[in-house]
This record gives sequence, structure tokens and C-alpha cells, in this order.
Amino acid sequence: MSITLDSVFYTYAPGTPYASAALKNISFTVEKGEFVGIMGKTGCGKSTLIQLIAGLLTPDSGAVLLDGKNINDKNYDRNELHRKVGVVFQHPECQLFETTVERDVAFSLKHFGWSKEKVQSAVERALTMMGFDYEKVREKSPLEFSGGEKRRIAIAGILAAEPEVLILDEPIAGLDPLGREAFLVLVKRLNEAGMTILMISHNADALAEYAERIVILKDGMLFRDGVTREVFSDMDELQKNGIGVSEARQCAALLAERGFDVAKDTICYEDLLKQMIAIGRGQQ
Ligand SMILES: Nc1ncnc2c1ncn2[C@@H]1O[C@H](COP(=O)(O)OP(=O)(O)OP(=O)(O)O)[C@@H](O)[C@H]1O
Ligand SMILES: [Mg+2]
Repeated sequence: MSITLDSVFYTYAPGTPYASAALKNISFTVEKGEFVGIMGKTGCGKSTLIQLIAGLLTPDSGAVLLDGKNINDKNYDRNELHRKVGVVFQHPECQLFETTVERDVAFSLKHFGWSKEKVQSAVERALTMMGFDYEKVREKSPLEFSGGEKRRIAIAGILAAEPEVLILDEPIAGLDPLGREAFLVLVKRLNEAGMTILMISHNADALAEYAERIVILKDGMLFRDGVTREVFSDMDELQKNGIGVSEARQCAALLAERGFDVAKDTICYEDLLKQMIAIGRGQQ
């Protein structure tokens, strides 16, 4: 499933003194199977963007298309959108409300017309995928779990619907380093199995490592859209605009400043390590 934003504008509270033009003339397409990172300073419009893709907001002008179909057309089947696009909003752990983990994860499946057995196996699969022992957790209250675990339960609720596209708004913020890495590996695995991923994150290291493409918003406008390696190469311009780049990229820039031969498109630790070994060998 491809997602296209075509010249999208969106303003909150239009025509009032509180009017806020959140998105201005945004156009890009995400093809099936891509892993796209979305970055930008706080308030630049990232969450607004995904609410438009999820159909929760309607553009003032322009269009949001899924597989070429405008999701805001009268005749568009919104069920298709809900089945195929899973969205994990910021702080999903705050949205758990059912009495048991099983019911919570099954919630979004209610309207799919699936058999009881199919629902149960989807719930079991999603919880297992998120690292839980299904039999141990199914009858527990979601409230008994830690913040990180609640987040994984909430994400299981999205994955249970087996979406083709998974959109994540700051999914790793506040997770400890091990939890973060485990989560990113899982998302990468879903992507390798064919799921399209759009991940909003302030964590440039995570995106450098996992996203093939980066879209950056600035003041509601599209500032950059390209292959991660190329986008992060332009470190000075990004930093001037308040956008962080990965630590490996910063380290490569420091080494280059000191006269070492390190490529500009060094963006993750693996790249950096290889080049540092080569430098070390050259000095022997
Ligand atoms: N419900 C709302 N009513 C009015 N203005 C809003 C509303 N939600 C967001 N805005 C404004 O729209 C702009 C974009 O907000 P948005 O939440 O999309 O930014 P963001 O990039 O997700 O920020 P963050 O990184 O802090 O999550 C901001 O100026 C924000 O103040
Ligand atoms: Mg946001």
C-alpha cells in the first residue's frame, strides 16, 4: 500500500485568534515496504501529519491518498484505512482501558467480523511478538504492568490487526537503552517481513541505524526528504536548523576536522567502526 500526501495544508482553529498553520504544502509518497523516519523540532507538525494519514484530521486543501484513493472522498471505504494502517500515537500506554490484557489487545478487532478463534490467535501472536508470555498475561489487568510494558501491550493492540502500514509516534522515547534496541529490532523485523514503517523520532541515532529514508519537517513545511545517508551528510545545514544528527555522524565530522580521511556519509556506528579500524591500520 502506498501513501501519498499531495499539497496538503492543515490549520488548527482556522478563522480564530488561535489559528495555527500546522502543515503547509506537504507532498511526498511512501511506497510499500519502506522504512521512513520523520524528524523535526517540537511543534513542526509531525503528529499532525500522521493524524491526517490516519484520517483523524482532514486537510484544508490537498489530498491524502492510500493506493491512489483519496481517503477523504465520500465513497472511500474507511474500514480499509482502519484495517491496513495501524497508528501508535504518542504515549499509547495512556490509552489502555480494558479490564484484561487480552480484551485490550483484541479491542481494535471487534469490527473486523473475525471468528473468536481468529481473534484469539491474532492476540496471542501480537503479544508474543511484543515479548509477552500470552498465557501468563492474558487475564491480568493492563494496569499491573510497568510503563514500558504497557506501551508494548498497546502496540500489540495495533499489531493484532495485522496492518500493512505501521505508523509510530515517538515509540522509543522514555525507554531504557535495552528496551529501545529490542523494540527497534522488532520494528526492523516487521519491515523486513514487508510492513511499511513510518516512525517519528527525535532519536537521530535510531533513525540513522534503522530508517532508509528521512523526511524532515520545519515550521510545518517539508525541509528534507531523502536517503538517510544523504540527508545526514549535510550535518552543518541540519544543525543550523536545529535538527540533530547521529553521534556517529558527529564523530566522523570531528575526525575529518582533525585531518582523518572519514567519509561524510558515515552515519551509524558500524560505518564509523570500519573507518576507524582502517585509519588505525594505516597508522601502524
Ligand atoms: N489541537 C490543537 N489545537 C491547536 N493547535 C495545535 C493542536 N495540536 C497541535 N497544534 C499546533 O500545531 C503545530 C504542530 O503540532 P504537532 O503536534 O503536529 O507537532 P509535533 O511536531 O508533533 O511536535 P512534538 O515533537 O512536540 O510532538 C504546533 O504549533 C502546535 O502547537
Ligand atoms: Mg508530536
